[in-house]
Amino acid sequence: MSSKQIIRLTASESYTIFNGSSMLPEFQSFVDKNEYEDAIIVVDGNVYDLQKPFVKSLRDCFDKTEILEITPGEKSKNFKTYKKIVDFCLKQNVSRNTPIVAIGGGVVGDLAGFAAATVLRGIPLIHVSTTLLAMVDSSIGGKTGINHKAGKNLVGSFYQPTAVFSDLQVLETLTEQEFLCGFGEILKYGAISDSVILEILKGRDFSELRANLTQLESIVQRCIKIKADIVTRDTRESGERAYLNFGHTFAHSIEKCLGYGTISHGQAVYIGMVAAVFLSQQNGSQLNENQLLEHAAQMKLPTDFFTIDSGDLINGMQQDKKKKQGSLRFVLLQQYGRPYLKTIEDLSEVGEAWKTAKDKLKENLE
Ligand SMILES: NC(=O)c1ccc[n+]([C@@H]2O[C@H](COP(=O)([O-])OP(=O)(O)OC[C@H]3O[C@@H](n4cnc5c(N)ncnc54)[C@H](O)[C@@H]3O)[C@@H](O)[C@H]2O)c1
Repeated sequence: MSSKQIIRLTASESYTIFNGSSMLPEFQSFVDKNEYEDAIIVVDGNVYDLQKPFVKSLRDCFDKTEILEITPGEKSKNFKTYKKIVDFCLKQNVSRNTPIVAIGGGVVGDLAGFAAATVLRGIPLIHVSTTLLAMVDSSIGGKTGINHKAGKNLVGSFYQPTAVFSDLQVLETLTEQEFLCGFGEILKYGAISDSVILEILKGRDFSELRANLTQLESIVQRCIKIKADIVTRDTRESGERAYLNFGHTFAHSIEKCLGYGTISHGQAVYIGMVAAVFLSQQNGSQLNENQLLEHAAQMKLPTDFFTIDSGDLINGMQQDKKKKQGSLRFVLLQQYGRPYLKTIEDLSEVGEAWKTAKDKLKENLE
């Protein structure tokens, strides 16, 4: 069971995202078609431990593989690990037709993708996504990179994979928090582009969807299609790709204020979207906030975000790379499915939206 989504980069260049379960035959035929004989496998340490048969079955698709395990977690997304991957590739004498197979979530995908972009000025990159967030978001669109002490994702490049494989069966070993994290982004696609997603998820226990692969696949497929369509039209984020940041200006600051790792990125995105809905209303939109708020309980939010005051939140936003001389730029909604960009000069509006979001979330979580 699987579906395909093609990302067309230019008239002659494209790559395919395979999404479903039991996708080994597709992986093997992709390897054969591209005449890949050897491969460098860069794998997340948790995935290597918990999904050994899965990793082995991918290895067996090549004549020869060398495997590099990466310490799990955001802290690995640095120069040191990037260099380790580059050194490893060069030590194995990779050729221009030796792919890096990145097996993991967004961290491994971003790291291995940046290494693939730079080793021999570019070797093939195959993403095998193992988190829900990577399946619906990070593996699509060609952003690769690492963190710098000056900020997150500040060093990197746009580099497109030759294919993406998202096998939903591997999600069974993901923690509940990481699984729920993906729903922040899934609801985002619902808000900016496809309100059917908000409807499908209404009243659902998100955690239970892991056991319903058919339904999960159809949701993941909808999200892949939205991201694929947007990044196909705007590969290098010069326009509408910025809409994918809906809720993120708030979310990055929430994560920063609470300390990275205290709240999942997806939970922060969810809270950020609720605040962005109220900011949209303050700017004239007739949005029904309940369409988002009714998902609050399912996101299993930690409650410490209620302690973040407006001043700290705005300070956090101003330190973020999207700041523009005192004012802040947000993705807002005219309606669900109709995002636009707005620069807010009067930051008290942001504080007001944040206060309303906290009050309304509190009501919905009681
Ligand atoms: N390139 C992009 O366009 C883009 C977009 C969004 C996010 N990102 C980046 O993605 C990263 C976050 O990605 P993520 O949420 O996938 O985090 P992650 O890669 O850190 O994975 C989350 C956790 O899940 C574990 N894990 C992964 N797959 C597993 C599985 N199948 N079973 C058990 N455990 C598993 C990992 O070891 C890790 O502990 C951030 O660095 C973010 O900047 C990139």
